[in-house]
Amino acid sequence: MLELSDVCFSYADGFTLKNICLRIEKGSFVLLVGANGSGKTTLLKILAGLLPARSGFIRLNGRVVGSEELREYCCYVSHNPFDQIVGSTVEEDIAFGLENLGLSRNCIRNKVDRALRTFNLSEKSSANPLTLSGGTAQKLAVASMYVLEPEVFLLDEPTSMLDDFGVTELKEALRELNRIGKTILVSTHEPRVFLELATSVVHMIDGSVDFHGSVNEFLGRQFDDVEF
Ligand SMILES: Nc1ncnc2c1ncn2[C@@H]1O[C@H](COP(=O)(O)OP(=O)(O)OP(=O)(O)O)[C@@H](O)[C@H]1O
Ligand SMILES: [Mg+2]
Repeated sequence: MLELSDVCFSYADGFTLKNICLRIEKGSFVLLVGANGSGKTTLLKILAGLLPARSGFIRLNGRVVGSEELREYCCYVSHNPFDQIVGSTVEEDIAFGLENLGLSRNCIRNKVDRALRTFNLSEKSSANPLTLSGGTAQKLAVASMYVLEPEVFLLDEPTSMLDDFGVTELKEALRELNRIGKTILVSTHEPRVFLELATSVVHMIDGSVDFHGSVNEFLGRQFDDVEF
């Protein structure tokens, strides 16, 4: 379980996240919605340990954690999957993070094979990642994180570059991740795409959390800045 207590953050230009309090249950699938500039990406980056909270606490399974531990347990996937590609083939890309851990060849092979199967990427294992469709590249970005065994996946506008087929592919991958118990947060301007998978919705306004409730509660309210 991920718990934020009074988390604050400011950029040099003045935008501020204000006293964010949130409980994200283990294994939940949370949508993060709100207008452009409301702070969704900033919040995801804090949870990923990529930006430091200025004050407040973040607890993971009851224990206060800092940026370094957050980087180990939570992974951030940018809206542009091609930004995160480092390998010249799909399997090299998935193996990259594991090679930095100094694991044996055999162990790396097994983990990469499992990731290829889990994300239905086996047929593409030798493909150049730069030739993939947006949806397949987005799955690769998630698979390359998955092998590092994070508990929490933080996806930032993952459908912004995808066509309908890509969206379907990505949703199947996220459904599987969630089924095996991973916690998933998705920042999105297209909440309806993910409603069937979501367990709750967080709405942000101007750096604050304005609402956190079930999908039904979310659907029962009108948010002027959320498109349907
Ligand atoms: N690196 C930065 N330095 C200074 N200000 C920033 C930086 N990144 C974002 N901001 C500002 O912080 C505010 C929140 O940005 P953020 O990207 O978190 O919003 P968002 O909800 O993700 O928006 P969008 O829906 O457009 O992705 C914006 O006003 C933005 O201009
Ligand atoms: Mg954003």
